[in-house]
Amino acid sequence: MSRVVLVGGGGREAALAWRLAQSPSSIELLVTHPNPGWPEGVTLRSASTVAEQVALAQSVQADLVVVGPEQPLAEGLADAITEAGIPCFGPVRAAARLESSKAFTKEICAAVGVPTARAVVADRSDPVSWEQALRRCEQGRVVVKADGLAQGKGVVVCQTADEARAALEEMGRRFGDAAQRIVLEDLLVGPEVSVFALCDGARAVALPSAQDHKQLLDGGKGPNTGGMGAYAPCPLVDDEGAARLVREVHQPVIEELARRGSPFRGVLFAGFMLTEDGPQLLEFNVRFGDPECQALMALWDDDLLTWLRGAAAGRLPDGSPRFREGASCCVVLASAGYPVTSDKGRPIPEPPDVPSVVAFHAGTTRGGDGVLRTNGGRVLGITGVGGDLQEARRHAYDAVARWRFEGAQFRTDVGAG
Ligand code: AMP
Ligand code: GLY
Repeated sequence: MSRVVLVGGGGREAALAWRLAQSPSSIELLVTHPNPGWPEGVTLRSASTVAEQVALAQSVQADLVVVGPEQPLAEGLADAITEAGIPCFGPVRAAARLESSKAFTKEICAAVGVPTARAVVADRSDPVSWEQALRRCEQGRVVVKADGLAQGKGVVVCQTADEARAALEEMGRRFGDAAQRIVLEDLLVGPEVSVFALCDGARAVALPSAQDHKQLLDGGKGPNTGGMGAYAPCPLVDDEGAARLVREVHQPVIEELARRGSPFRGVLFAGFMLTEDGPQLLEFNVRFGDPECQALMALWDDDLLTWLRGAAAGRLPDGSPRFREGASCCVVLASAGYPVTSDKGRPIPEPPDVPSVVAFHAGTTRGGDGVLRTNGGRVLGITGVGGDLQEARRHAYDAVARWRFEGAQFRTDVGAG
């Protein structure tokens, strides 16, 4: 019997828990945050701070901790768990800087030769570098990025010099310390794709590619969100293409981190833009994407525990994990007002059991009256699977039509190319 603590309570963690619960290994799963969609048999032991999460893992004598979100990793949760002698799926703080510092990522890319946009890094406390940043703004066509974690909102794509200067100012006001340093990158053009690799500190193993839909509205319009839908695999990068990118990008990066004394154990998520000059790295994340994780877990066809434990313990199994043939498509239903405001309390029709569809809960809650209601933000990730993307989309959207709640916002073009 394995005792696993899963940190986090959103749609991504719901998908991991759902797949873990189907593991042929026997698992006792404890979770740190409430989610009405946890599979049966899961125990909620609330723990919201890193200190509480470490104390929980120790008190239950967990033999694996799986960390869903980036924030606790940036705060050193994996360091503390590892020091307590418990394997952790999720990198130590020094390796998590791949996500918590965009300037660090630029430096690593340069060190190992990963193709990425040309960039200037500026620090507000250094007038010379700041002057250089302002000069870069004058040329226009620049992407202004806060160095630190900004909940996915720290990137502004600017066509003109005016936009770029305004973004530079605004970031200081909005993100404080996280925007003490700014990365200004050349603007690239092309479709985007996410490529994930499980890493055990020494070896990176590719998973199928996925594509996210970041903007709120159809056709990529409207404000950026955490992600309004995802599908896998992405036809632009087949399994061989994903394996090649992992060999050329993820693998040298984790080797470099190991050389620097901070081996990466967990999942390394690379966002690429497929430009005319080939794939260019836009960003790293040190966790599964949300909702890409929902799309990947829907296709996962192997013992998830074995792979997560192998990565955490520094010994991934040989070969690659098995995925079912076909495709998956996750459509996010978000509450009215998202991503600016957060409408709550709308009753959600109880999702019926439909084959080929699973509804991963994120912003839902069940009150004393037993009624399932919205709890703001992204509410459900309705995920269809099928023999091909068309079929997966059809299953997902048939289900969306039945499960939508009052004011639900969703895109109608997830997986439509
Ligand atoms: P990031 O968090 O760095 O991936 O940036 C968020 C989004 O901004 C990406 O998914 C892209 O859509 C866009 N973006 C980031 N960097 C660039 C770039 N150099 N050129 C064009 N768009 C970019
Ligand atoms: N869906 C994008 C992310 O999780 O960062």
